[in-house]
Amino acid sequence: MPLAVHPIQPAFAAEVSGVDIAGPIAPADVAAIEAAMDNYAVLVFRSQSITDAQQMAFSRNFGALENARGGNVTKPGDHRLPTGMNDVSNLGKDQRPLARDNRQRLFNLGNMLWHSDSSFRAIPAKYSLLSARIVNPTGGDTEFADMRAAYDALDDETKREIEGHVCEHSLMYSRGSLGFVDYTEEEKELFKPVRQRLVRTHPVTGRKSLYLSSHAGTILGLPVPEARIILRDLNEHATQPRFVYVHKWKLNDLVVWDNRQTMHRGRRFDESQPRDVRRTTVAGDTPTIAQAAE
Ligand SMILES: [Fe+2]
Repeated sequence: MPLAVHPIQPAFAAEVSGVDIAGPIAPADVAAIEAAMDNYAVLVFRSQSITDAQQMAFSRNFGALENARGGNVTKPGDHRLPTGMNDVSNLGKDQRPLARDNRQRLFNLGNMLWHSDSSFRAIPAKYSLLSARIVNPTGGDTEFADMRAAYDALDDETKREIEGHVCEHSLMYSRGSLGFVDYTEEEKELFKPVRQRLVRTHPVTGRKSLYLSSHAGTILGLPVPEARIILRDLNEHATQPRFVYVHKWKLNDLVVWDNRQTMHRGRRFDESQPRDVRRTTVAGDTPTIAQAAE
């Protein structure tokens, strides 16, 4: 069966059939997937039973994998998955749900805030690919917001006001908003804020989008409370149901999203039961703006 793209919503999110992620992918199919990503920003591939190695190999069709260092508080010896895989599960190395007060768990709760993956890196991520290996019995949907449509729907005055704004993003801002504020000196160094444009332009389509994320905590040149009110207003605007696709996970779904034109968040689930979702991240290739000199 040839590759086919079936829109889930008219201009945002589509399901792709006719591809076996586990095997090598023909160059024409890689190109078709990239084109569909540019258009729909979120793609769903159903019934893809894959290993970690197969997920990483498929991801590399779209660019180099991002180095996960600096993206979490998991200690080197505590990783459940091999290098190259981001563990978005609620499981420890013993494959059991983490305890309620586990620091890694509390930090990972930040994934339930609207964000764009790796917006806290100077060169933020291109795609994320999330594979459902164990689906939780209750909740755990992932919601996606179309930041192009959200930008388009702003009034002209707001577009003018925010056009040149540059934000600072850090994991300490997103986690700080949840009251997670204790970091080691090493973590503070790893989580130092980076600069990102608030309005970014997609390198292929040329479309503008709002580059929002819970990691954004300041806007250069503005007092912090004023910046945060602007960011809150924009987030509220951008996450209205008319811009959102809600993904309800089935076993072996693989969902791919373009972090350059979407935000997403996980929803709560039954944490006494496993939820094993594994992410690969395709690195971006350019910063949205130059960083401050050290
Ligand atoms: Fe994420």
